[in-house]
Amino acid sequence: MKKIFLNLGRQPITNSFLKKLDKKTLANEFFYNLKITFDTNTKLVSLLNFVKPEKMFNEKYAHRASSSLTMMNHFKKISLKLKKKFKEIRCLEIGSNDGAFIRNFNKKSVIAVEPCKNLAVITNKLGYTTYPKFWNFELSEKIKKKHGKMNIIFSSNTISHVPKLDEIFKGIENILKDDGLFVFEDPYIYSVLKNNSYDQFYDEHAHLFSLLAMKNIVKSYNLKIVNVEKLDTHGGSIRFYISKISSKYKVQKNVKKMLDLEIKNNLNHLKTYKLFATRVKKSKIKLQKILNKIKSSNNKIVGYGATYKSATVYNYCNINAKKINYIVDTTINKQNKFTPGSHIKIKSPEKGFNNKLNIKFAFLGAWNFKREILKKEMNYIKNGGAFITHVPEPRIINLKNVNKEIR
Ligand code: TYD
Repeated sequence: MKKIFLNLGRQPITNSFLKKLDKKTLANEFFYNLKITFDTNTKLVSLLNFVKPEKMFNEKYAHRASSSLTMMNHFKKISLKLKKKFKEIRCLEIGSNDGAFIRNFNKKSVIAVEPCKNLAVITNKLGYTTYPKFWNFELSEKIKKKHGKMNIIFSSNTISHVPKLDEIFKGIENILKDDGLFVFEDPYIYSVLKNNSYDQFYDEHAHLFSLLAMKNIVKSYNLKIVNVEKLDTHGGSIRFYISKISSKYKVQKNVKKMLDLEIKNNLNHLKTYKLFATRVKKSKIKLQKILNKIKSSNNKIVGYGATYKSATVYNYCNINAKKINYIVDTTINKQNKFTPGSHIKIKSPEKGFNNKLNIKFAFLGAWNFKREILKKEMNYIKNGGAFITHVPEPRIINLKNVNKEIR
């Protein structure tokens, strides 16, 4: 049974950056109520109300996976690891974005699936056959008929985006070779609980997975989890290695270890999620206090990274352009737009975060890149600049404590 444990209030589509703030645009802005549930049977954490995928994943999709060096290296590593496992590679990626993963493969050995048409165009142009469609059983049939079964199926930050998981796994079961592996990674609910990173909840994250929940899900599809890894990416992720039940793969020790850890930390009990919700409420109050104090001393606050996650923080904590003067972000197609719901202007770092501006406070919207950003902006910190973060606790990072934060 699904039980609501957290209410993050009225939220926009995180990917809907606004070009202007005229009356018509504002009147058309879409909002929904973001409530989070725990299924006491399957142990799966999901949004109560799913936003229609077509509203989020369309030709306007802004995120570019290849714009992050950290993610490019990450994909290089996992593709090398997977390539070593098979002599002849037949690889399928579900949610290929702008090709950050498939660029590591020979064009003939990969089929990509990407429903955002602006992104599918990019990988098609690069020479990778890309289906501009949502993954489902029907598409798996079509691809199987044309290209055969696959031995590597990869997906990063996509499976958690799909409301109907049944379609995903039916399609996987259909197209995965008997000795094939379905490898996917998504933000890990255990990291969210530990980091109080409630901003991992937004429209696109229909579910946040635990191993406990995934074990319950796959058993209906003749599949088994053979290995699992904890990753640092996206503020803490989990990677599953899944095969056919009858495959040659033995279940690795990691699986039991992680299951034990989840049980020890009560990820199978509603109470754990209720306690988390209490911490989230406290986090909101503390962050608001920090921002109010800085503002009352007439200081500017700039946002650093117009992440999707930060949309949840801004809208839940009632932070708008009165609190955050503007946000800087390296993604070109976010620049000169306004954040959804909170309506804060986004600028390029060159324009909005240079020495001449004498900025003293920056809210770390991209906290998942904390180390990378703190190292990059060490001169800003040495000149008296500070970062504000809410993960795991709202606090200020400055010259006094920065070394501890980078470690
Ligand atoms: P991402 O990690 O994809 O988070 P989300 O899924 O919540 O959107 O986004 C990181 C954003 O931060 C992306 O828009 C680029 C931006 N960014 C900077 O502007 N400067 C930086 O130095 C880094 C590392 C990221």
